[in-house]
Amino acid sequence: MPRPYVILNAAMTLDGKIATVTGDSRISCDADLDRVHRLRAESDAIMVGLGTVLADDPSLTVRRVRGRNPIRVVVDREARTPPNAKVLRGPAKTIVAVSRKAKPQRIKRLRAAGADVIVEGAEKVNLRRLLEELRSRGVRKLLLEGGSTLNWGMLEQGLVDEVRVAVAPYIAGGANAKTLVGGAGFAKVRESAELKLSRVTRVGRDLLLIYQVAGVRGAEKAR
Ligand SMILES: NC(=O)c1ccc[n+]([C@@H]2O[C@H](COP(=O)([O-])OP(=O)(O)OC[C@H]3O[C@@H](n4cnc5c(N)ncnc54)[C@H](OP(=O)(O)O)[C@@H]3O)[C@@H](O)[C@H]2O)c1
Repeated sequence: MPRPYVILNAAMTLDGKIATVTGDSRISCDADLDRVHRLRAESDAIMVGLGTVLADDPSLTVRRVRGRNPIRVVVDREARTPPNAKVLRGPAKTIVAVSRKAKPQRIKRLRAAGADVIVEGAEKVNLRRLLEELRSRGVRKLLLEGGSTLNWGMLEQGLVDEVRVAVAPYIAGGANAKTLVGGAGFAKVRESAELKLSRVTRVGRDLLLIYQVAGVRGAEKAR
């Protein structure tokens, strides 16, 4: 079954943090934010994990440039997205992808708040099947905007095609500060996601690195 082309985009400090220990995630510069909004406008959907919705309450709309709003997708195992979250408001359509663990009452509440709820997977959301479902609904290009846990879930299963990272000139430190990719991690370097550098550019004060995902041996093993 076909799935969308997936671009993982994030802003991180030089030491790989996507938020500080206190959760401050305003990392990239204005020029990079413009780039992200252009990328959003070129995408059919933007996907984030529940942790990002709870931490940042993002709108996930196109505001800094002119362009259409992509569909917003929240991966949320137990349907815990607050019904008053910004991601459920505004002009764009929102899909909340939940697992069968989600209580019907919570699903009902999200539907009442305007979300389209997709139930996919027993314990966790089955990300591959979710992507296939999104593709069948016309999503060809999907922008994955984090956070750390969902980035791992997608990479681990070999569901990311391209990585775009803006490296901001800061070092945040903090053993518990969220990094670009969290989760369990690959045991060996040779089993990790292997990338091929395709472009390096300066965007304002940040450095934009664009990579193609060459392969994920660990993912092939897990299948
Ligand atoms: N700098 C940047 O570019 C950037 C971008 C985005 C986010 N961030 C930062 O990243 C942090 C959030 O990262 P995070 O790791 O805490 O959260 P996250 O990855 O946004 O969301 C994690 C949650 O999503 C749900 N989830 C993930 N994979 C799932 C799956 N396969 N099936 C079902 N549910 C799944 C789980 O919810 P359950 O708990 O219900 O299982 C999980 O706890 C925030 O501090 C945010 O500011 C930074």
